Amino acid sequence: MRFLFGFIASLAALVLIACTSETTTSQNSPDANLSAQPQAPVAPINYIQNLNARKTQSLDGKWARIIDPYENGYYNYRYQVHDNGFFKNQKKEGPRDLVEYNFDTSPKLTVPGDWNTQERELYYYEGTLWYQRYFDLQKREGQKYIVQFGAVNYHAIVYVNGEKVGEHEGGFTSFQFDISEFVKSGENFIVLKVDNSRARDQVPTVNTDWWNYGGITRSVFIAVIPDTHIIDYTLSLSSDMSTIKGTVTVSAATHNAPVTLTIKELGISETFAVSENGTLAFSLPASPKLWSPERPKLYDVSLSYDADTLRDKIGFRTITVEGDKVLLNGKPVFMRGISIHEESLLHAGRAHSKADARATLELAKDLGTNFVRLAHYPHNEAMVKMADELGLMVWSEIPVYWTVLFGDEAVYRKAETQLVEMMTRDKNRASIVMWSVANETPLSDERHSFLGRLINKARRMDNTRLITAAIDTHSMSENEIVLEDPLAEKLDVIGINSYCGWYWAVLEDCAKKVWKSGYDKPIIMSEMGGGAKAGLRGDAGEIWTEEFQATVYDYNLQMADNIDGLAGISPWILKDFLSPRRQLGGIQDDWNRKGLVSETGEKKLAWDVLQSYYEKKAAE
Ligand code: GCU
Repeated sequence: MRFLFGFIASLAALVLIACTSETTTSQNSPDANLSAQPQAPVAPINYIQNLNARKTQSLDGKWARIIDPYENGYYNYRYQVHDNGFFKNQKKEGPRDLVEYNFDTSPKLTVPGDWNTQERELYYYEGTLWYQRYFDLQKREGQKYIVQFGAVNYHAIVYVNGEKVGEHEGGFTSFQFDISEFVKSGENFIVLKVDNSRARDQVPTVNTDWWNYGGITRSVFIAVIPDTHIIDYTLSLSSDMSTIKGTVTVSAATHNAPVTLTIKELGISETFAVSENGTLAFSLPASPKLWSPERPKLYDVSLSYDADTLRDKIGFRTITVEGDKVLLNGKPVFMRGISIHEESLLHAGRAHSKADARATLELAKDLGTNFVRLAHYPHNEAMVKMADELGLMVWSEIPVYWTVLFGDEAVYRKAETQLVEMMTRDKNRASIVMWSVANETPLSDERHSFLGRLINKARRMDNTRLITAAIDTHSMSENEIVLEDPLAEKLDVIGINSYCGWYWAVLEDCAKKVWKSGYDKPIIMSEMGGGAKAGLRGDAGEIWTEEFQATVYDYNLQMADNIDGLAGISPWILKDFLSPRRQLGGIQDDWNRKGLVSETGEKKLAWDVLQSYYEKKAAE
């Protein structure tokens, strides 16, 4: 971790959260075409909120796969895009037909799931891999057929019945394509070209401290919706907690059909006319039971418009800052957190299911948390819905991580698209209390401008949540650590990643260190900790023993108590996780060992240290 020497001008600011709100829909902006020949970008659709709540047909299960490191299924020998590439799913018909691929006889991969943990040959694979499957459909007039992917890492080109329907860049956000004009009644097939190659101009860029899991890593389904349908909706509690505010966007206002909102338990059943541009905004007096970690109350909400009806479970709460305090429902809250990567406790690789989410978040609750930092990218939808249900506040983050190319406008657009996609999918999740725009990004004017634009965009989209980022630039003298990052001025909550006694400083000195922040703002210690191999016991002075990790926690928690304005901590990390940067044989073996539990869920001594600290904090 780097530090700079210097002091920061002191600033006192009560954060005023922007008072404008704008609903937006995530445009799956077609990516800069990868092909050698320019291709007309396929018209993206707006992201249809809560598509899963409509009539759906799952495409999860076994898909054929072809590994294609030379992209032979996409480019011809002149490096031009094939017009009859693998996406055509060609079959040999005549005795001399030369077709040098066949999905029907290819091995299978399970979707959802990363490919790295499904086949030994794919453990390190970075490149293109083709997926293909068939599906049946009964096509009807007046219906739209939308395919939704929970996530595909990193770049996906989607084809239906041999025709390109769209492409998406970004490994951790949900996207959709309208395939109505491409499907037919009877048997259809879908093909994806998935490429998880890392590149300098991507988000994240080439260097991360997590495994580059490739593939269709989250669920896929086709939703059938009426031509006239609800595209987007937002419901939230007003800052004075007296009214429920909402917006709805519908696909076409030609119908003068009303929108009906029902929240039975609150005695709400309201009908609203939509404006000629298909939008409406409303504000209804209500006194809902407030959502909180202690009492995660969710209400059954239904919305209908013409022939489209959807249901959702929504919690109502406020989250604000006042000076150096975070207020949940108007009351100061200390965020007893833990950081989490999206790896399953139940199986190898990427987590994606409700069972994964329940196992991980119940373990986090067992630790005594009321807060989770979902690092370093948006997690799957089951995770945030489970946080709503179990009562955990969430820090949700886009992977603007370390050294992305801050001076590149196309990279900014990629980051902003991922921000919009993250916020559009999850804007009705009460558990999400803050959006994070970055993690440990190096200081520069370009980085300041890049992140400033993201922060402004997030504020314009959502004035009901806090904006944060994890920063790691501190100045340090003998016993004083001073926050040193101008980005802090733009944040509601300042995240600090600090590895006192692991990456820097003598461990025993950490308890004496006093943090100084020149800001009257809440601070969250968004990372701290150290590594241990589960089961390695020995002297507390010996690195990699459980005793040493427990001592790191002990001293850093004493240091945390020295931080004025500390509103919470989310130590790094709940579970050991795979990273190509962790190569110490016999200890790491590709695992980052900073977990409080091992990759098999075995608790380490440091678990007890943090758990008793949280018991004490909860009793305060
Ligand atoms: C950094 C970074 C994490 C990383 C951790 C570590 O702070 O944010 O992504 O895994 O430190 O070094 O283990």
